[in-house]
Amino acid sequence: MSQTVYPVPAEWAANALVDEAGYREMHRRSLDDPEGFWAEQAKRIDWITPFTRVKETSFDEADFGIRWFGDGALNLSANCLDRHLEARGDQVAILWEPDSPDEPERRITYRQLHADVCRFANLLKSRGVGKGDRVTIYLPMVPEAAVAMLACSRIGAIHSIVFAGFSPEALAGRIQDCDSRVVITADEGLRGGRKVPLKANVDAALNHAPGVETVVVLKRTGADVAMRDGRDIDWADGIAEQSAECEPTAMGAEDPLFILYTSGSTGKPKGVLHTTGGYTVWAAMTHEYVFDYRPGQIYWCAADVGWVTGHTYVIYGPLLNGGTTVMFEGVPNFPDPSRFWQVVDKFGVEIFYGAPTALRALMREGDEWVAKTSRKSLRLLGSVGEPINPEAWEWYYRVVGEERCPIVDTWWQTETGGATITPLPGATPMKPGSASWPMFGVKPLLLDADGNVLEGAAEGSLVIADSWPGQMRTVWGDHDRFFQTYFTTYKGYYFTGDGCRRDADGYYWITGRIDDVINVSGHRMGTAEIESALVAHSKVAEAAVVGMPHPVKGQGIYAYVTTNAEVEPDDALRAELVKWVRTEIGPIATPDVIQFAPALPKTRSGKIMRRILRKIAENDTGNLGDTSTLADPSVVDHLLANRPATA
Ligand code: WT7
Repeated sequence: MSQTVYPVPAEWAANALVDEAGYREMHRRSLDDPEGFWAEQAKRIDWITPFTRVKETSFDEADFGIRWFGDGALNLSANCLDRHLEARGDQVAILWEPDSPDEPERRITYRQLHADVCRFANLLKSRGVGKGDRVTIYLPMVPEAAVAMLACSRIGAIHSIVFAGFSPEALAGRIQDCDSRVVITADEGLRGGRKVPLKANVDAALNHAPGVETVVVLKRTGADVAMRDGRDIDWADGIAEQSAECEPTAMGAEDPLFILYTSGSTGKPKGVLHTTGGYTVWAAMTHEYVFDYRPGQIYWCAADVGWVTGHTYVIYGPLLNGGTTVMFEGVPNFPDPSRFWQVVDKFGVEIFYGAPTALRALMREGDEWVAKTSRKSLRLLGSVGEPINPEAWEWYYRVVGEERCPIVDTWWQTETGGATITPLPGATPMKPGSASWPMFGVKPLLLDADGNVLEGAAEGSLVIADSWPGQMRTVWGDHDRFFQTYFTTYKGYYFTGDGCRRDADGYYWITGRIDDVINVSGHRMGTAEIESALVAHSKVAEAAVVGMPHPVKGQGIYAYVTTNAEVEPDDALRAELVKWVRTEIGPIATPDVIQFAPALPKTRSGKIMRRILRKIAENDTGNLGDTSTLADPSVVDHLLANRPATA
């Protein structure tokens, strides 16, 4: 734990929207008078029908429910687009940087984006899509991804974005779970100079998801792809005849806005559902305060729209706030490790928000890749997705930001909708590695294993005591799973799944997941999901997956595999299993280590002792803890003696 404290730079304290005293006052008010606080915050949104009710929430089983601004009505896309047209219609809304620097960028104004969104919304309507229908989006980082999202929200369709790195199998499961009739994709994606066969993946997925009636296909690379008559529509052809006007649909504040699948501790990904009113207020407010954002500032969040960060902080937050948001199609190290900072210089980016895993990868390439760029436009840096180790923080601060830019280390989750524990640049003295203080309306608590609330400096399970507007409302199709997953571990509290320490100054330090979820390069993976992919292989009898420390990815994937009796495990099988998991889930789930094990350590009741597997994966084998409940202790000796050379 780093002891260094970096004070708020004087010019930030003087000019920011919120200074330290302001933060304390606003945070206190948000907890003491949530009705008053949120009624005021909600004024930043244009409501079609004003709300009279603000907060109707309970985490208790007897009257469990989460409703915010319940009787209000609004439209998110109108708040992102229409209301800016008069003052900033010709301002660039989306600055798009392609994968290759040799291809020209695109600059899309609010007026153009509005027209594009209306045309696409009309195309969806012409295919029978209306309020409450689910639309799956499987697109690369192109402006059309924003168009598709905004078009859905304009007509009240519920979008479900599936990250374009997921396999056909994973895509099919997500299409089927929410019963999407429409899929929006591209011929191919482009990342780091490599092509991704998106349309072919969709075709493969639809063999398992026959309910899809419409596939809209954007031409990105111009590859020759199969088009099925009556089902598949070329994007450009589809919008050619559509009107550039489309009346936004009035959506109830609690009408569903989007579904985003995320991994949990069971094998099946959860469809996290966000609703319209609370999410919109939360996205706009957190984006403004966390980034001290003023309309028109050039802002770049380097996340993919396939993750929640892309939803809230590439698209919705910045557009709600009249921003100019950079969308980047590529990767940090293509064509070389200067790319991020070249794009910063090219567009004069003032605010840059990225993931620790990318920073660690770039840090290893050497400072010269950064130093050869100017970066003088940068004023603020952000970090998201996983704990940032103090070494990477210091590098970001000194080398990238030249000690001029505060860093906001934002802790949050798909479930929380937006930044939940985070510094504010004008308010929070920074401690490298700490996400620091709670956002307005958020009351974090630390609990011990028995559910007692810990006071002062302490370490425990991180829960949130009461609802905030951006909170997820349910798991799609399984409200009971929502309640069971988040509100039963500690009765009456929202359980985050993270461990956390609070220091004597009240700073929160996230220590990582304490459930069976691992964080690989800022991507959340359920270990059970990888295990079920492995056991689906015909030669595998049993598998157990745990996280292991990884210098770049944060955590790597360590899989213990027991093969069927007649199978002789060897390197060829190892390679085959790696490939198998990549096709079952996607490249983000690639195991880093596979250790073959004739048996897994189990208790006498047959429960796998994951604690021991984690220790072996971490190579922390000096003290394995209590092994007395093992059914067969020799299993552990075998595992210890056979750690693969690659581990
Ligand atoms: C999990 C949520 C934040 C949106 C993108 C990821 C970890 C996230 C931080 C941070 C420490 C962090 C947590 C959390 N996490 N941000 N700044 N410091 N840990 O959303 O895929 O839902 O993952 O990511 O473990 O629970 P997600």
